[in-house]
Amino acid sequence: MNTSRRDFIGAAVGAAIASGCASGRGIGKVGVSGAPMQGFSCAPMHEIRVGVVGVGMRGWRALRRLSMLPGVRVSAMCDIFADRLAKERAWLSENGRPAAKEYVGPEAYKALCDSSDVDVVYNCTPWQLHAAVGLYALRAGKHSLVEVPAAMTLDECWEFVETAEKTRRHCMQLENCCYGEDELLALSMCRKGVLGTLTHAECGYVHDRRAGIFDDAYPDHWRLKWNVAHAGNQYPTHGLCPVCQCFDVNRGDRLDYLVSVDSLGGAYEDYARETFPEGDWKRDVRFRMANVNTTVIRTVKGRTILVNHDVATARPYTRCNLISGTKGVIRAYPLRIHVEEPERRAQHLTEFSAERTEDLRRLHRHPLWATVGKIAGEVGGHGGMDYLMDLRWAWCLHEGLPLDMDVYDLASTCAVCELSERSAASGSHPEEIPDFTRGGWKSASPLGIEDVDLVKMGFDPSRIVSGGAEMNI
Ligand SMILES: NC(=O)c1ccc[n+]([C@@H]2O[C@H](COP(=O)([O-])OP(=O)(O)OC[C@H]3O[C@@H](n4cnc5c(N)ncnc54)[C@H](O)[C@@H]3O)[C@@H](O)[C@H]2O)c1
Repeated sequence: MNTSRRDFIGAAVGAAIASGCASGRGIGKVGVSGAPMQGFSCAPMHEIRVGVVGVGMRGWRALRRLSMLPGVRVSAMCDIFADRLAKERAWLSENGRPAAKEYVGPEAYKALCDSSDVDVVYNCTPWQLHAAVGLYALRAGKHSLVEVPAAMTLDECWEFVETAEKTRRHCMQLENCCYGEDELLALSMCRKGVLGTLTHAECGYVHDRRAGIFDDAYPDHWRLKWNVAHAGNQYPTHGLCPVCQCFDVNRGDRLDYLVSVDSLGGAYEDYARETFPEGDWKRDVRFRMANVNTTVIRTVKGRTILVNHDVATARPYTRCNLISGTKGVIRAYPLRIHVEEPERRAQHLTEFSAERTEDLRRLHRHPLWATVGKIAGEVGGHGGMDYLMDLRWAWCLHEGLPLDMDVYDLASTCAVCELSERSAASGSHPEEIPDFTRGGWKSASPLGIEDVDLVKMGFDPSRIVSGGAEMNI
């Protein structure tokens, strides 16, 4: 496929005006497929009705979390399993929330998207269904929020971009890691220029999923099947999206090209042989996925990003999280920060100082964590970042503001799935990352250091149900 394809003709500007939605700050040039989505916003919404599609391991927790957001009502839910919906019906009722309309069956998401009782479709389905459900939602005139990775192929990335531009609806990837405390601390430091000229980042997804991948709770073993069929990095966004925010990707810089290399594989197969009895089909599964994929991305401005993927070996969890600039560095797992002090410039350091790290952490703490961190921690969900992510998009819709992540962020980060696989298969040949913004990245404004106003949103602490939404990432 030609990665610079732009073959979609639409007449979206009129539709945007009709719907009360418009592109605001940092507008790029209007392209052939419709108006650009940088800075896109809609009229303020004071009751946001959400339809959740897929109430599996991620989705049921999302449904409960959403029902703790001020100004948000879960109005509909959908799954192929009626018993999963029944469990959520009971939870909503026990916790005094209004009932949500239920949709059951493999195509029932279409009726949910078409319903006049839904404004936002919150998509927690398997990877194979993200595009089908997410695009259907946009075409039905709904804002479309999609779990990670929102798109698995380049064609899907383009289709999301073209459909969002044409339908003039928000399309956001639900990348919760952009709201992690350390990630937002890094963003805050980058915004203030504390690290100097940003040069290099390291990130990734290192999560031993050997037990999880064979779990029969995944319908049709969808996650296993994807890793049987694909090599490269098929889960790049947890590490990459926060780095892209720090590096102003699609807002002043852009991902240019990548090279990727796969290690040997076999760790999942070893695990299956050691775990499952003779005759079990799981012993015979053969994965294309390598034990480790290492991808290096270069941005147009010359910054480099190392992205790791390792879900099959006995390594403790890490998203690595290193952002390095000419005047300092922040890295996580565990958190360590160094910022050069002018009087000690020539002094070569061999280790980080715990004291200085703590001082810098306090000084640059992101306001979202300062104001809502405690509440978010009580709700749970990866220590609170899931709630902060949902609170931010809800706040932006409430106020009629652009969302923190747009459809170009979705496309440029998800493009790594297919491109890393291609590069690794070709002996690490460089693969160009398409400019999904069609030049809009040059004039779009970078993200600020953003917050929410709980009082204005009508936040009611009595609606928080403690600890209901914790899970492994
Ligand atoms: N952001 C995060 O931290 C995070 C963490 C875990 C999972 N995820 C993502 O969430 C998504 C779901 O993962 P999961 O672990 O919950 O998987 P899961 O299999 O537990 O959940 C998927 C749900 O979708 C339902 N479903 C399948 N086909 C459907 C259809 N046609 N219509 C409606 N529902 C359908 C399934 O029955 C299931 O309940 C994936 O994209 C995954 O990558 C994100």
